[in-house]
Amino acid sequence: MFYVTTPIYYPNDKPHIGSLFTTVLADFLKRTAEIFGDETFLLTGLDEHGYKLYKTARENGKEPLEFLDEMQKYFREAWEKYWIAYNRFIRTTDKDHEEVVKYVMERLYEKGYIYQGKYEGYYCYRCEAFYPTSRLIYKDGKYYCPVHLKEVEWMSEDTYYLKLTEFKDWIKNLIENKDFIIPRGYKNEVLGYINELEDLSIARPKERVPWGIELPFDKNYTVYVWIDALLNYLSGIGYPNEIYKKYWPAVHVIGKDILKFHAVIWPIVLKMIDVEPPKKILVHGFWTVKGLKMSKSLKNVIYVEEIYDKVIPVRYFLLRNAAIEKDSDFSWEEVYAFYNNELADIIGNAFKRVTSLGLKINNGIIRGLIDPEVLDELNKYIKEGKSLFEDFKVPQYVIGVVKVFKFLNEYFQEKEPWKTKDEKVLYNSLFIAKIGLTLLYPILPEVSKKALDVIGIKLKPLEQQFLQETFYIKESPILFPKIK
Ligand code: MSP
Repeated sequence: MFYVTTPIYYPNDKPHIGSLFTTVLADFLKRTAEIFGDETFLLTGLDEHGYKLYKTARENGKEPLEFLDEMQKYFREAWEKYWIAYNRFIRTTDKDHEEVVKYVMERLYEKGYIYQGKYEGYYCYRCEAFYPTSRLIYKDGKYYCPVHLKEVEWMSEDTYYLKLTEFKDWIKNLIENKDFIIPRGYKNEVLGYINELEDLSIARPKERVPWGIELPFDKNYTVYVWIDALLNYLSGIGYPNEIYKKYWPAVHVIGKDILKFHAVIWPIVLKMIDVEPPKKILVHGFWTVKGLKMSKSLKNVIYVEEIYDKVIPVRYFLLRNAAIEKDSDFSWEEVYAFYNNELADIIGNAFKRVTSLGLKINNGIIRGLIDPEVLDELNKYIKEGKSLFEDFKVPQYVIGVVKVFKFLNEYFQEKEPWKTKDEKVLYNSLFIAKIGLTLLYPILPEVSKKALDVIGIKLKPLEQQFLQETFYIKESPILFPKIK
């Protein structure tokens, strides 16, 4: 089972290129696992509680739930337009999720991992996180959040703490010995968080943060939004019902800004309730626009609803240039350059040549047997693709798919079937296209299915695509019309 998750997004703003990227990346991983024969489950959704949401809803003159019901439409619509095949869209206001959060809080309390205390410190409500002064920016007598560069608030209140520090050695050992954070370079950053680990305040007084899940053992408090949110990864698959074991452990796709929550706090919470740690945490960087961080105040945010007509070039670019190892810049020149140079000139061109000739031979019904040399070459691409996928080398995987079509172009050019009318050569060419299109599926699923349909083939896991089938060719469309 390949269970993959996205972070659940704060719906105080509409989805943009950043949230789109995380979601496309998770969808890509799900679909790749699918063509390599795995069963899959993709969970995405919304993080709907907390102070920030409450505040935003009120600023919009709405009740929280009314505001959320409107905002969730933007996300569902965006993911539908961008071909996101999620299995569940979870909202933390869903009843089953709320029940799970209460159940877990009760268990943690019974097990003695929660104790009462007082919190004093600086809080950034945009991050929904407390910061020690050592991590804040100090300027002219004031402290600023290192992520948002906005002034943080001093907070002093009664709360409940979760005994994270009891598991300090355990988590340190886990991070040092189990390579589950990708890219591996994040290890030191995580060990840094562990060194300064403190117990976590997990409750908010209801009079300050009423919009949240009530703490089951003290009705004067709501559960800290991050604990509430992280638990979606379990409630989304039916926990505590045994069914969750069919899916767990998960591959979490996250941005680098929420690493501490996922790599330190989350595994400890899981340990406390006797659930094993995540399988992998894939951490990606940020997308910038003309080198600048996207932000409302700079008015440079690219919202998904503005680019519904550009699904193919955008999805391709996000994966081809995936901001995983480092931050990446989103530029339209590059989006179109990759589209024209690789999708149109290589993949689309190869497909058009092969299918156009196919239509002219034997009424487009092409039978044959795969040539062992071609088969060897294809097996090489598949083996390489699988290992790139397993190592989360996303751009390299995309380049690998382009290489299959380059191979197709070369093979076609060398054998000159348009002169010889050799059906065997055509069959082999179509076979290469079939494998290439199946490998393209995780990147551009709808194009892949449409193009396979043109040659009379259904999308199937790669192993089954190696069965010998007759091709029935239909009128071939231009898959990727050039964009000027
Ligand atoms: N609600 C929390 C996540 C809880 S998960 C249990 C949250 N939400 S968020 O909406 O602020 O961010 C969600 C994800 O979007 C994060 O992984 C963040 O890194 C990502 N991105 C937001 N802006 C981004 C870019 N400009 N570029 C790439 N990803 C960015 O955090």
